[in-house]
Amino acid sequence: MKLINLKNKSIASDYVAVELLKLIQSTPTATLGLATGNTMTEIYPRLSELLTVNCVNLNDIKTFNLDEYVGLNSSHPQSYYTYMHQLLFDHNDWNERNVYIPRGDAPHLEEEAQAYEQRLASIGQPDIQLLGIGENGHIGFNEPGTPFNSQTRIVDLTDSTIKANSIHFDTIDDVPKQAISMGLQSIMRAKRIILLAFGERKQEAISRLIHGPKTETLPASILQTHPNVEIIVDDVIFNHLNNITKRVEQNSF
Ligand code: F6R
Repeated sequence: MKLINLKNKSIASDYVAVELLKLIQSTPTATLGLATGNTMTEIYPRLSELLTVNCVNLNDIKTFNLDEYVGLNSSHPQSYYTYMHQLLFDHNDWNERNVYIPRGDAPHLEEEAQAYEQRLASIGQPDIQLLGIGENGHIGFNEPGTPFNSQTRIVDLTDSTIKANSIHFDTIDDVPKQAISMGLQSIMRAKRIILLAFGERKQEAISRLIHGPKTETLPASILQTHPNVEIIVDDVIFNHLNNITKRVEQNSF
């Protein structure tokens, strides 16, 4: 894993948007693994701008989103379908036939999850997978305790995830309690993984990801065994990690 301090969300978002543009230009049939949440909000508008000014052909680009809330249909304002369309897919000429987002309102959710996993496997490895991280170390909606060999399935969200996501809903009771999420094994298929984390609330999870053991109690720790992972952080997290390292060094003298 490479830890990279890009100072703040704005610079980090520019970096990721440019990396996605480079991939799309060099590999017009590329597969992108996409994430949602606050961490990603500036990446997609930046990417859209870059795609516009560079007149990029997106016809054969495939995208897979990590997850969707169970029970929300695509027109719900808080669905990840709406999020992705507002920030990215409604701009430029994305080919809707190549845009994959799990359906949280599918009549048979387990079948939807299995079909999503099969589609992902048949299309091949994502060239780049974007990830955010939960305060509890989740990636996708793979909460602590998720087996490392998990695939796309229906998951129960933990109370801390429901609370963190409640800022987007009128009341905490409106937050879905379940999601359909790619599994840890599904995520590990990607050729290159870029995980982003900003701010104090994520510093503990990143510190455990970098310094702690590989354990199912911190789902993100599976990334320690992936050959090509970048962890992009801001000054807040980087300084925290630096302070921990200095404290450990001081203690060893
Ligand atoms: C979203 C996802 C989640 C988020 C994580 C961080 O598609 O899979 O793992 O990346 O919950 O969320 P934010 O960025 O809102 O802090």
